[in-house]
Amino acid sequence: MKKEDYKFTFEVYESIDELSEADASLLQRARKVTQNAYAPYSHFRVGAVARFTNGEIVTGSNQENASFPVGLCAERVLLASAASLFPEVPIEAIAISYNNENGDSKHPITPCGICRQSLLEYETRVKQPMRIILGGLEGKVYVIEKAAMLLPLSFSAEALA
Ligand code: THU
Repeated sequence: MKKEDYKFTFEVYESIDELSEADASLLQRARKVTQNAYAPYSHFRVGAVARFTNGEIVTGSNQENASFPVGLCAERVLLASAASLFPEVPIEAIAISYNNENGDSKHPITPCGICRQSLLEYETRVKQPMRIILGGLEGKVYVIEKAAMLLPLSFSAEALA
């Protein structure tokens, strides 16, 4: 028996003010796009915004449904639009923000497991890492260098061959 390590390093910024202008602007847009969420059941509103390598910007927000499992997370709404609008153009960075029923949003949230799987496949497909910028409406910001970091020992297409 031997043990294998998985090392996960990410950046923690005290606030949006420490980010580059481009990343701060992306996070601001993610904060704003939470307003487009359709979340009458959870009242948890998530906004996601992608910047492509060609400079284009695409947004997504969570879209719920009275049949709860039908609902989609903001990240996967975003990725579906991204792939439809600009197929094969790499995404440089994605920013994700949120607010809850009480309007609280003081620390970053991280993507759910299904979205991690989707983010990873997108990154693999376009052959370029995408930075993930996570922040609430205020407070600390996390920056993760690529989606693959969020899903160690992931399932991938290679296994299907
Ligand atoms: N949600 C997202 O949009 N992204 C995440 O990463 C976590 C959760 C949504 C799904 C649901 O509409 C609401 O937040 C509460 O789970």
